Amino acid sequence: MRITDFRPRQSKEAAEVAADAFADDPLWTYTVPDAGRRRLPHLIMLRTGLRILRPPQAARVALHDGRVIGLATWTTAGSEDPYDPFAPTRRVDPRATRATRSLVRRAASDWPRLSALYATLAQSYPNDPGWFLGTLVVRPERQGTGVGSALLRDGLAQADAAGQPVSLQTSTTENVEFYRRHGFEVTRTFAELYPGSPPLWNMRRPASAQVTRDAPSAPRGATPS
Ligand SMILES: CC(C)(COP(=O)(O)OP(=O)(O)OC[C@H]1O[C@@H](n2cnc3c(N)ncnc32)[C@H](O)[C@@H]1OP(=O)(O)O)[C@@H](O)C(=O)NCCC(=O)NCCS
Repeated sequence: MRITDFRPRQSKEAAEVAADAFADDPLWTYTVPDAGRRRLPHLIMLRTGLRILRPPQAARVALHDGRVIGLATWTTAGSEDPYDPFAPTRRVDPRATRATRSLVRRAASDWPRLSALYATLAQSYPNDPGWFLGTLVVRPERQGTGVGSALLRDGLAQADAAGQPVSLQTSTTENVEFYRRHGFEVTRTFAELYPGSPPLWNMRRPASAQVTRDAPSAPRGATPS
C-alpha cells in the first residue's frame, strides 16, 4: 500500500470506495433506506466534488496494485464548508450545479431526507479555524487493516507541520473511539442530526496533539500492502 496525491482521473473509483464504505453507515442508512439507492449521492456529489477539487481542498488516496483502497479529503485553510456545492471554490463551476440538479432528479422520493441531511450537515459544520477532514473512507474488504489510520496519520502529519488543528464530523461511536486514539476529542454531540435521524459528533484535535499509546504506530492486522 502507498499513499499519494489524489488525481482527478481517480474520481469515479474513489467515489465508489466512499459509496461502498458508507453502505452501512447509520446516517446514510436512515436517510436512504433502500440500500440499492444509497450509493447514488456519493457517486454523483462526491465524484463531482473530487473532479473539481482545488485548494483549499486537497485529497490523498491509498493505493494497492494501482487500485484506490482508501480516500481522505481535507480542507486545508479557512472554514469553507466542504459539503456546500456553492462554496467559494466551487461556486463558479457549473459541474457542481449540474450534479446537484442531477441528484435532485434521480434521488426522487429520497430527496426530502437527503436535502435535510445536507442542510443540517452544513448547519452543524464546526467552522473551526484550521483544517477539516471532510472524508475518510476505506474499501470495506480492507477495513480494519490499518489503511484508515495510515491515511489519517499522513494528513495529521501535514497539519502538524503546518501548525494547524483539525476538526471533523463522524456518525458512529466506533469512529469516535477511533479518532480519540488519534488525538481528537468530541466538541459537540448532535443527538439527532435532523428530526428522527441518528446522531453526529463534531471532533477536534489541537495542533500537534500527542496521540495515546493505543494509537497504532503502524498498520495492524493483515498487512495492507
Ligand atoms: C472508519 C475507517 C475510515 C477506519 O479505517 P480502517 O482502515 O478500517 O481503520 P484501521 O484499520 O486503521 O483502524 C481500525 C480501527 O478503526 C475502527 N473502525 C471504525 N470503523 C471500522 C470498520 N468498519 N472496520 C474496522 N475498523 C473500524 C475500529 O475501532 C478499529 O479499532 P481497533 O483496531 O482497535 O479494532 C473505515 O473503517 C471506514 O471507511 N469506515 C466506513 C466509513 C466511515 O465511517 N468513515 C469515517 C467517516 S468520519
